[in-house]
Amino acid sequence: MKKTDILLLIAAFTALIVSGFYGNSIAAQEEAPKEKVTCITSKCHATMKEVKYVHGPVAADECIVCHGESPKHAANPKKNKFAKIDNVQSKCFECHDPFPKKKFTHTPVEEGECIACHSPHGSPYKFQLLKKGGDLCFECHDEELVADKFVHGPAAVGGCVVCHDPHTADYEKNLRAQGPALCFMCHVDKAEAINNSEYVHKPVSEDCTKCHNPHSAPKQFMLNFEVPELCLNCHDEKKKQIAAATVKHGALKIKKSCLNCHDVHNSNIAKNLLMEPMDLCLSCHDREYKQLDGKSIINMKKWLAENSNHHGPIKQKDCSGCHNPHGSTNFRILRYPYPATFYKSFSPDNYNLCFSCHEKSIVLNPETTKLTNFRNGNMNLHFKHVNKPIKGRTCRACHETHASNFPKHIREAVPFGAWELPVNYKKTETGGSCTPGCHKLKKYDRIKKEINE
Ligand code: HEC
Ligand code: HEC
Ligand code: HEC
Ligand code: HEC
Ligand code: HEC
Ligand code: HEC
Ligand code: HEC
Ligand code: HEC
Ligand code: HEC
Ligand code: HEC
Ligand code: HEC
Ligand code: HEC
Ligand code: HEC
Repeated sequence: MKKTDILLLIAAFTALIVSGFYGNSIAAQEEAPKEKVTCITSKCHATMKEVKYVHGPVAADECIVCHGESPKHAANPKKNKFAKIDNVQSKCFECHDPFPKKKFTHTPVEEGECIACHSPHGSPYKFQLLKKGGDLCFECHDEELVADKFVHGPAAVGGCVVCHDPHTADYEKNLRAQGPALCFMCHVDKAEAINNSEYVHKPVSEDCTKCHNPHSAPKQFMLNFEVPELCLNCHDEKKKQIAAATVKHGALKIKKSCLNCHDVHNSNIAKNLLMEPMDLCLSCHDREYKQLDGKSIINMKKWLAENSNHHGPIKQKDCSGCHNPHGSTNFRILRYPYPATFYKSFSPDNYNLCFSCHEKSIVLNPETTKLTNFRNGNMNLHFKHVNKPIKGRTCRACHETHASNFPKHIREAVPFGAWELPVNYKKTETGGSCTPGCHKLKKYDRIKKEINE
């Protein structure tokens, strides 16, 4: 006989004796010898199957497939314990398919601790889990995860495994999907809106958790910060700009702040705006605002409706060419300097707003034949009115910036202290005239210089 044959023989022989002994001893304990041999009796392991979810082999009384045989235990259960199962995981994988190989393995699985989560015998919970939902996870993880005021639906009800695979996963943190795709498993409407939009805010297309906590957070919608702080944490340039603005835009200060104008996720309008830019401005400026200093801001929508001659940029529906919606260091949140007053000592820089689009030469030369049409013969009347070391008239003395019913955006009247000073402008083919509150009727003509007294 070969050595292996001898070993086999011994093994077979032992098995025979053991099974006999095992069977007999159980039979000896039980009064009904005809019954199938079982470890679960009224005296032994009596409650093992009295749970809702009983593990397959336990249900079939197949204790020995896992525990092996122990005649000594059967003979004297109190004195002789079963041998410990030394490799639980490989025991499980004798019957279950090993998990598919993936990039990430949950630490307890890595360590073969199947029974840290599953009862090998049975439990009141599906998959013989030791605890239900999140409670299982909180055996090892901090419950703080869901302790903040606003808890995400699935995390609140312990649906951790909808997002996390408890065993192995292709994505970090044992996630079942990555980036927005994870959220789109459930937020189908958001997925549709975002996928069908022309503009998607960059962090939204990268990872929703850049703003939302998937578990819980102190602010509504599981945000760690409220708008505008949330936005300004990333938009450093805007943060500096807004902090530096001495003239703040009311739109930022009222409820919703940035979200009064921007959609945080997606939009079909550039810069993620909620509406076409001018419609956006007029959605609020369709009423008069009373300011803290008692002055009021006109109803711009009404003004534009009542004054049909719109200034170029307004025809192009661009209010932001002149105003910075985020605030500014200039009067009326203007992008560039422009005097707030009727008079101002002249410097071309005072009018950078107008000169960001128009030629500043219109106010620089006393004489001209072409720089401006506002001339009497060669005398540049823009120069004459505006270009003065003291008490230069500002553009507003004659022009209405947004719209007017007069040619060349000349105003009907201009505020002069408490008085609405009338301008009474009349245009002709080659010149014009006005009878303002400033002086009596004066005419100008580019071809034939008018003599005004
Ligand atoms: C799927 C494998 C498996 C089956 C089947 C199984 N067990 Fe276990 N059992 C284990 C594991 C794993 C442990 C944990 C202790 C260890 O590592 O030995 C355990 C522990 C035990 C313990 C000691 C700890 C405790 O939970 O009280 C008893 C008693 C026990 N099993 C009895 C039984 C009986 C009786 C049966 C049959 C009705 C049975 N087992 C079937 C795997 C199994
Ligand atoms: C002797 C074979 C065998 C061993 C060993 C075994 N199982 Fe099972 N397991 C089964 C059978 C059979 C079922 C019932 C399958 C069914 O109902 O579809 C089952 C069911 C399960 C289920 C529920 C699956 C479901 O889809 O409902 C889980 C979870 C489970 N076993 C975990 C374990 C763990 C953990 C171990 C190791 C401690 C283990 N099993 C060892 C045979 C085994
Ligand atoms: C961290 C806890 C945890 C550990 C550790 C763990 N599981 Fe699971 N297991 C679960 C949970 C939770 C489910 C239910 C998954 C679900 O609802 O989709 C599950 C489901 C299962 C199932 C049934 C469904 C399926 O995916 O096939 C089997 C079989 C299973 N586990 C076997 C094992 C084995 C074998 C081990 C050890 C290698 C193990 N589990 C380790 C938590 C765990
Ligand atoms: C038996 C203890 C135990 C249980 C139960 C448990 N975990 Fe873990 N889990 C760990 C350990 C240990 C780590 C690795 C250390 C760490 O990152 O905290 C880990 C890591 C993680 C990680 C981070 C992985 C990474 O790459 O950093 C996630 C996510 C996780 N577990 C989710 C769960 C979920 C969901 C459940 C419930 C289904 C759960 N865990 C149950 C022990 C456990
Ligand atoms: C909606 C999907 C989702 C649900 C539901 C969910 N998680 Fe997470 N979890 C994530 C994402 C995404 C991350 C990684 C980003 C992060 O840490 O914020 C993560 C990270 C984790 C981490 C690692 C934290 C760290 O700091 O590394 C743990 C642990 C964890 N989750 C446990 C749980 C537990 C426990 C539950 C159930 C109470 C749960 N998760 C429910 C999506 C989810
Ligand atoms: C398992 C499905 C599921 C997944 C995956 C999921 N959510 Fe949710 N989410 C819900 C449910 C359910 C609600 C509660 C809906 C309600 O109350 O109207 C919710 C609510 C929210 C809310 C608050 C909505 C509100 O009106 O209060 C936000 C924000 C949110 N989820 C973001 C996310 C993000 C970000 C992700 C990805 C990290 C994600 N969700 C993944 C199911 C899911
Ligand atoms: C840049 C930050 C940011 C990112 C990234 C982000 N969100 Fe939001 N989300 C918000 C803010 C802010 C709100 C609150 C909006 C409000 O008050 O109108 C919100 C609200 C929500 C809501 C509830 C209200 C609604 O609009 O239905 C859901 C659901 C939601 N987000 C899902 C997602 C999903 C899914 C992603 C990734 C595809 C995502 N978010 C990415 C900031 C963000
Ligand atoms: C997690 C960082 C982050 C947060 C939070 C964030 N943003 Fe952004 N945002 C970005 C990045 C990155 C870009 C892309 C910048 C680029 O391409 O130059 C961007 C671009 C933008 C743009 C320009 C879009 C375009 O088409 O040029 C606007 C407008 C914007 N964000 C507004 C907001 C608002 C409003 C909030 C708050 C509700 C916010 N952002 C919160 C990171 C963030
Ligand atoms: C009154 C409407 C309005 C509000 C409120 C508003 N924005 Fe804007 N935002 C715009 C408009 C219009 C544009 C595009 C024109 C422009 O470039 O200024 C824009 C552009 C942007 C851009 C693109 C870069 C740039 O300057 O062109 C960013 C980033 C941005 N906004 C962030 C924010 C943040 C952050 C807040 C809140 C603190 C905010 N916005 C509030 C109207 C607004
Ligand atoms: C969400 C509403 C809202 C939107 C949209 C909005 N505004 Fe305003 N705007 C206000 C409020 C409120 C004030 C401040 C009134 C006050 O000071 O009491 C204001 C003030 C102003 C002022 C006067 C600033 C000052 O204090 O001197 C200008 C100019 C202005 N807005 C232009 C615009 C332009 C241009 C847009 C479009 C890019 C716009 N607004 C969009 C609400 C809005
Ligand atoms: C060509 C530059 C320019 C454009 C374009 C422009 N504005 Fe103005 N806006 C100004 C100037 C300059 C003032 C200050 C006027 C003054 O006080 O005489 C002003 C003042 C305002 C005021 C304050 C009015 C008041 O009662 O004092 C509001 C509101 C306003 N603009 C809204 C808008 C809106 C809305 C648009 C787009 C429809 C727009 N502006 C387009 C230059 C412009
Ligand atoms: C963002 C560019 C821009 C700014 C800033 C701007 N304008 Fe204009 N302006 C235009 C455009 C465009 C036209 C139309 C030109 C055309 O129709 O040929 C125009 C036309 C005019 C006209 C009528 C010209 C004509 O021949 O009909 C006057 C007057 C005028 N602007 C005055 C001003 C004043 C005063 C300022 C400063 C408060 C100013 N503009 C600021 C772009 C601008
Ligand atoms: C005293 C009144 C008055 C003042 C002040 C005034 N303008 Fe004019 N402006 C006019 C008149 C009148 C016309 C029309 C000339 C014509 O076409 O007959 C005009 C025309 C214009 C035109 C059209 C092009 C041209 O020169 O013919 C622009 C642009 C213009 N003004 C810009 C300005 C700017 C910028 C300021 C402030 C720096 C300013 N105006 C100050 C009365 C004035």
